[in-house]
Amino acid sequence: MEAIRWEHDALLLLDQTRLPAAESWLRYTDYREVAQAIRTMVVRGAPAIGIAAGYAMVLAARECAGEADFPASMSRAKEILAASRPTAVNLFWALDRMERCGTAFGPDLSRLEEEAQAIHREDIRMNRAMGQAGAELVPQGARILTHCNAGALATGGYGTALGVIRAAHAQGKVSMVYADETRPLLQGARLTAYELVRDQIPVTLICDNMAGALMAQGKVDLVIVGCDRMAANGDFANKIGTYSLAVLARHHGIPFYTALPSSTIDLSIPDGSHIPVEQRDGDEVTGFAGVRTGPAGVQTWNPSFDVTPHNLLTAAITERGVLRPPFDRGLAK
Ligand code: MRU
Repeated sequence: MEAIRWEHDALLLLDQTRLPAAESWLRYTDYREVAQAIRTMVVRGAPAIGIAAGYAMVLAARECAGEADFPASMSRAKEILAASRPTAVNLFWALDRMERCGTAFGPDLSRLEEEAQAIHREDIRMNRAMGQAGAELVPQGARILTHCNAGALATGGYGTALGVIRAAHAQGKVSMVYADETRPLLQGARLTAYELVRDQIPVTLICDNMAGALMAQGKVDLVIVGCDRMAANGDFANKIGTYSLAVLARHHGIPFYTALPSSTIDLSIPDGSHIPVEQRDGDEVTGFAGVRTGPAGVQTWNPSFDVTPHNLLTAAITERGVLRPPFDRGLAK
C-alpha cells in the first residue's frame, strides 16, 4: 500500500481525510497546495509529510527555475512548506536536505527530483530495516497494542510501528493487534484498522479509553507506536494519547516501544520540553465528519501530540538497530 506517488510533473496523494470510505487520489502541481494538503492532513504521518515536502520543493524549483534569484525563491517556498505543521521533524529534515541540494546544484531539476525520490526510497528501506530489527522483540503469539497510524500510509510505504507488526506477522508471531481508534481524527480506526484488514493481519478496534481495561485483563503483551520527533535524551512526541499509553504500560509491566527512522531524531534539542506541539482547531474535538458531538460555544483543548518521557520507553527501534537506555548515549552514537 502507498499514499504518495510521483509522476515527474505532478505529486499524487491518496486523500487520507476520506479513508476508509473512499480511496481517491489528488494531483498537485503547485507546492503551495501541497503545504495546504499537509496542513489539512490529506497527507499525514511524520515520514510521509517529509516525503511530500521533498516533492513539493521540486514543484517549487520548476516554478522558480527561470528566476534571477533562484535560492531566494526556493527559501520562500521552503518557509511556506515549513509553516504547514510544526511537530514532525521529518518535514524540516527533508526541506533542509532539498535546500542543500538546490544550493549545491542550482535549478537543476533532475538533481532535485533525484533527491526527493531518494528521500522516498530511503524511507521505505528504513521501514523494512526497522521491521526486521523490531520483529526480534515480538514474542510468539503476541498481542500488540498500537495508537494512531504509523503504517504504510504514514510513510513511503510499509510503516514504522506497523512495519514492525507486518514483519512480526510475516514470521507468524502476531495473534492480535489492538488498534486504538485515536480521537479526535480517528487515524487508528480509519487508517490503521484499514491497513491491517487489507493485509489480513488480525486486528481488533478499540476506543481510546479501553486500553487500560485491556491491559488489566492481561490481553496486551507489548505496545508499539510511531514517533514524530525524538529529542537527544529519548523523550519523544507522538499522537496525543501516546503518553497515557506509556503510563498505563509502565503500571502494568508491559514493554513500550517506539519505532522511528533517523529522519525523526532531533539531536538539536536536549529534551522533550523543546518539541513544538501543534494545537489544532477545536472543531476536531466538538465533532467529527460534520456531526456535532459537543455543544455550541464549549471551550476545547486540542493538542495534536503529547510528549512521552524517555524513562517510560523500553526501547526505540531504528533502522540501525534497537536502542535501549541510556537513550542519550545510543542516540548520540
Ligand atoms: O497527526 P498525524 O496523523 O500526522 O500523526 C501521526 C502520528 O502521530 C504518527 O504516529 C507519527 O507521525 C509516526 S508515523 C510513522
